[in-house]
Amino acid sequence: MAATHLPVLILHGSRFGQSTKIAQALADQLRGGGHEAELQALTRDSAPDPDRHGGLVLVTSVRYGYFDKNAYKFIARHRAWLESVPSLLVTVSLTARTPQKRDPAVHSYTRKFLEKSGWAPHQVEVVAGALEYPRYHLLDRLAIQLIMTITKGPTDPTVTIEYTDWDQVGAAGARFAARLPSDDPKATLV
Ligand SMILES: Cc1cc2nc3c(=O)[nH]c(=O)nc-3n(C[C@H](O)[C@H](O)[C@H](O)COP(=O)(O)O)c2cc1C
Repeated sequence: MAATHLPVLILHGSRFGQSTKIAQALADQLRGGGHEAELQALTRDSAPDPDRHGGLVLVTSVRYGYFDKNAYKFIARHRAWLESVPSLLVTVSLTARTPQKRDPAVHSYTRKFLEKSGWAPHQVEVVAGALEYPRYHLLDRLAIQLIMTITKGPTDPTVTIEYTDWDQVGAAGARFAARLPSDDPKATLV
């Protein structure tokens, strides 16, 4: 399938690499479906090129209850462009390891992020991240162990668990791809 439309900008704000991994999976999927995707790390200077980018995927993780402030900056600065292209927000967190929490209306971090940023993406996906105790320094490990004790999760400091549901990520990518312009004549029939 030929890709003649503008590339989707995929921004990933990641501390330990899980959001980047999810962003890469979405990029691979879009490319596999004949769309173009451009991966970029989210920084304070991130900006779309309105002449070159025809959509946005923003993948950002929760750290101590907060998202990357660069995500808020990006949304505030590029609001007009955001309103003109298909958009997907993917939030990554450990609270989302429980499937019931993956409803954006229930996941409080995501709900607050949308309220605070004033952004209404076309699609919102709440995705579980990874627990990687061996990579955390002492204070982070103790804090995460405390959260895990409260929420009945693993506290063994040698444990690494990837909670990300890749089927969920794949389904989200497919739904987003369906929002993008397509050269496939069959796409107009569905
Ligand atoms: C220091 C630290 C703080 C975290 N705080 C939270 C939190 O408040 N709530 C939550 O659900 N997950 C929290 N997490 C889990 C991360 O969101 C999860 O590990 C995610 O996979 C990180 O993605 P990243 O590697 O792309 O940054 C925290 C993780 C770390 C290391």
